[in-house]
Amino acid sequence: MSVRFDGQVAIVTGAGNGLGKSHALELAARGAKVVVNDLGGARDGSGASSEAAQAVVREIESNGGEAIAHGANVANYAEVEDMVQQAMNKWGRVDILINNAGILRDKTFAKMELADFQLVMDVHVMGSVNCTKAVWEIMRAQNYGRIVMTTSSSGMYGNFGQSNYGAAKMAVLGLMNTLVLEGAKYDIRVNALAPTAGTRMTEDLMPPEVLAMLTPESVTAGALTLCQKDAPNRFILCAGAGGYASTRLFETAGTFISTEEQSPEAVIASWDKICDQSGQAELASGAGQTEKFLTMAMTNAQPA
Ligand SMILES: NC(=O)c1ccc[n+]([C@@H]2O[C@H](COP(=O)([O-])OP(=O)(O)OC[C@H]3O[C@@H](n4cnc5c(N)ncnc54)[C@H](O)[C@@H]3O)[C@@H](O)[C@H]2O)c1
Repeated sequence: MSVRFDGQVAIVTGAGNGLGKSHALELAARGAKVVVNDLGGARDGSGASSEAAQAVVREIESNGGEAIAHGANVANYAEVEDMVQQAMNKWGRVDILINNAGILRDKTFAKMELADFQLVMDVHVMGSVNCTKAVWEIMRAQNYGRIVMTTSSSGMYGNFGQSNYGAAKMAVLGLMNTLVLEGAKYDIRVNALAPTAGTRMTEDLMPPEVLAMLTPESVTAGALTLCQKDAPNRFILCAGAGGYASTRLFETAGTFISTEEQSPEAVIASWDKICDQSGQAELASGAGQTEKFLTMAMTNAQPA
């Protein structure tokens, strides 16, 4: 079964370089009309240029595909709205959004300026929020949409010097979890990709022979899996160097401590039961946790 996107319109943010460029080229090669978004700044988010996005559009066109470039800063909602409007004017729909644009401003938390924290949050979190908001009504009206958030192992597990980036990358998973619930009725599926790839974002972190194994194309195979017609929903797909894995959030069954006994000493004494992984489960929504604990409390309640 080959994965095709004929007749579909995709927006890929930050598609002038690295992973976004690879996603855009492969979507177009498989039939999608693509909006190649890129602000064209440096790795730290400074500056702007339309050259990178335009070069990707030329490459798509020379391969026989269709694409337009747009230089919206994803952190600016008016510019994002203009980008989506241009896609609608040209092609009349938006089926796929890959929130990929990103920057780095690494420093230990002790040395980090709040402005560097804010900018990273603006690009990754508000950038994903803005682009998703601008296509949300369109996808609801179409009863179809596929959205990919780009998260990171840095957010899910932590990385020294990346408190801003890690916080932002975890935030997009929170965004995904609720959008999945609100979009389900309209066949809008929202997934997340946790890549590891040799791009300008990582080029000074690893030796060239390692970077050569970490191809953007291996990550793109995962990205396209998450935005095809039969895509999963609420899936965190990790991809790099040809390795693919799934990250999932589980909650242990836990234990109940009665009202009279609720104290830090009792919680500490129950630690093994709290951590016992037998019976752990994924919860479909936050309300599921409240329900679980109330059920536990009612089951354990002593008759008066
Ligand atoms: N490369 C990795 O190993 C890795 C690991 C985890 C997560 N990621 C994530 O993958 C995504 C792509 O990263 P990459 O490695 O290809 O980096 P990259 O620097 O090669 O590409 C990012 C692109 O985003 C664009 N961009 C930045 N800010 C923008 C803005 N405000 N508006 C529009 N475009 C903007 C840049 O111009 C650039 O072309 C990012 O979200 C990154 O955080 C990458």
